[in-house]
Amino acid sequence: MTGIPFKTWMEHIQDRTEKALEHLLPAHDLAPQRLHQAMRYAVLGGGKRVRPLLAHAAGDLSGAAPEQLDASACAVELIHAYSLVHDDLPCMDDDVLRRGKPTCHVQYDEATALLVGDALQSLAFHVLCDAPADGASLVQGVRLLAQASGSRGMAGGQAMDLAGVGQQLSLEELEFMHIHKTGALIRAAVLLGAGTALPDPELASLDHYAKRCGLLFQVVDDILDVEASTATLGKTAGKDAADNKPTYVSLLGLSRAKELAAELHRECLDALSGFGPRGERLVQLTDFIVARRF
Ligand code: IPE
Ligand code: IPE
Ligand code: MG
Ligand code: MG
Ligand code: MG
Repeated sequence: MTGIPFKTWMEHIQDRTEKALEHLLPAHDLAPQRLHQAMRYAVLGGGKRVRPLLAHAAGDLSGAAPEQLDASACAVELIHAYSLVHDDLPCMDDDVLRRGKPTCHVQYDEATALLVGDALQSLAFHVLCDAPADGASLVQGVRLLAQASGSRGMAGGQAMDLAGVGQQLSLEELEFMHIHKTGALIRAAVLLGAGTALPDPELASLDHYAKRCGLLFQVVDDILDVEASTATLGKTAGKDAADNKPTYVSLLGLSRAKELAAELHRECLDALSGFGPRGERLVQLTDFIVARRF
């Protein structure tokens, strides 16, 4: 897949991820049908698939074939989709629009949305266990995804996010929250994609990249919440301010938040510089993450 334009590569990976997810999710007519239909509703036909793209781009570093990366890419996307379903619930952000459609609890009901999250999380680990890798690498991957999803990762970050409503957080506290709620899964996508074969110095550079890219992703999300429209975002714009959420924009203002995104972008590219052409897809994907409008 080297040599083809970024946009073509991106559409190809998005398409192959959609097909893989379609195949991995329980069929809509399998009992319990309503739960399975809601799981498919929450996962299929939407989203940028940034985490699968990161896994595939990181796989380029070790020369892995796309077929070797699908399981890891889908496992992280399933955790992400579950996190969005729960994030939108009335007890959390109380959102009605996601990926341009009614949120899962609006389309179905709250109890179903809760169970969709539970079941997607289990499915993610099931899928990861079937990844084409040796036993030790599989266990390492499962451990990595578990840490990234749990109370010291995404779920913990979400707890901090909710506890932060109406609070004036310090810059350190805000960074701590963002690297957990969003950064942890982004990092897991990169490291799962790269696998276990890279030499230690390269792994250290990649880990630094992955952490800064995770923070960068949420800083851009905070900016877009203020700058983009509901129509382009496919989710309710202006929601953070309406909910009194601490964000980079609320703490630093829009222009300083944009400067920070530019600084993090540079830091990401620096961390990738030692990889040369092998890191080209990650460079392009990082540029996309910064320039995205939704
Ligand atoms: C939105 O993630 C939630 C955050 C973690 C910031 P994405 O912007 O990746 O959402 P989709 O998957 O494209 O819908
Ligand atoms: C969500 O952050 C992070 C998750 C773990 C889902 P946000 O609450 O900012 O995500 P959006 O803006 O609703 O997509
Ligand atoms: Mg939230
Ligand atoms: Mg939200
Ligand atoms: Mg947001």
